[in-house]
Amino acid sequence: MQVNIALKQVVDNSYDITIDTLQPIHFDTKVAIVTNPKVAGLHLSYLLSKVTAKELYIITVPDGEEYKNQDSINTILESLFNHKFNRKSMLIAFGGGVIGDMTGFAASIYQRGINFVQIPTTLLSQVDASVGGKTGMNNSYGKNLIGAFHQPKAVLIDPYFLTTLPSREFGAGVAEVVKMAVTFNKEFFEFLETADLNNPDVLQDAIKQAVQTKASVVAQDEKEQGIRAALNYGHTFGHVIENETKYKKYLHGEAVAIGMVMANDTAVKMGLMSESEALRVKKLLEKYSLPTSYTIIETNSFYETFFLDKKSSDASITFILPVGIGGVKITDACEKSIILSVLDTFGAK
Ligand code: NAD
Ligand code: GLY
Repeated sequence: MQVNIALKQVVDNSYDITIDTLQPIHFDTKVAIVTNPKVAGLHLSYLLSKVTAKELYIITVPDGEEYKNQDSINTILESLFNHKFNRKSMLIAFGGGVIGDMTGFAASIYQRGINFVQIPTTLLSQVDASVGGKTGMNNSYGKNLIGAFHQPKAVLIDPYFLTTLPSREFGAGVAEVVKMAVTFNKEFFEFLETADLNNPDVLQDAIKQAVQTKASVVAQDEKEQGIRAALNYGHTFGHVIENETKYKKYLHGEAVAIGMVMANDTAVKMGLMSESEALRVKKLLEKYSLPTSYTIIETNSFYETFFLDKKSSDASITFILPVGIGGVKITDACEKSIILSVLDTFGAK
């Protein structure tokens, strides 16, 4: 015997992403701003001059990827219970991608899901992490292995916050911008080649183009069943580099920059990209002081580490390879010999 449950109702999770100076906004409900001491110290008073609510609370969790964990999620949830938040209450993620991912995850599980708004403060979170509803936390098995798709109600991107961002963090965000341009948007790539992202107007335009690119990908494939995986360009190699260097030497975006160079070399060997196109990507990354070289001590061990990537099934590794500039191919059919020959070019000489 079978009982069918008809769940055909389509839920509209659409939302607006505003890229502009933050406008005053009032929430007629309980609101908690989730942030960390660094972002609060720099920008909370500015935020509080713009955001009001029926009841407003601040929740702080320690700063850093190492605190993107169950303890911090518990801190957020405990505070919501203490303040008797209900299903109509709202969270505001105020910080970089770490705060954004954790706040979104806490919102997705508190009383089976409440609303949240993203107010991202790093370039990486403005162009990538705040858009698309991936939320989560790390555990001892790896990064972002626990989480949920939970879309924010709105994303409010104020480039003003970036004025206090250290230059390495800025560069790490540029890497994700380049990622979006290489894989999906040739015109945007050409814009970036001549643009000066240190100019605030140009930067705002670049953020807009990156967000438009990401939003269109997410709109096609919200839950990463297909094309959204292309946003992991550079990440397959980058994750191994982060793993080998124990997450200490490179920021995520920096490891992704090197990973993109490795992916490009693979694409060149497979006839998907010309050498001159690969060189253009490398030059663009170097324009923002991103690393593009890396010494692999042991290529076989580097190769084996690919299998720890959660995007790879047991038997195969998924590679995201550029097709020229502005195109992309997702494949789990790269020959091991090709990958090893690319890795050899990064080997200790
Ligand atoms: P982060 O959140 O750790 O921020 C980097 C550092 O900058 C932190 O010390 C932070 O406190 C500080 N900071 C934040 N805003 C600042 C400002 N305006 N001025 C000065 N300092 C500021 O790192 P991140 O690069 O923003 O995000 C990385 C995280 O995002 C990772 O956990 C990654 O897994 C996640 N991520 C998620 C997605 C997604 O789709 N959900 C996409 C990409 C990355
Ligand atoms: N950062 C990759 C994604 O959002 O899918």
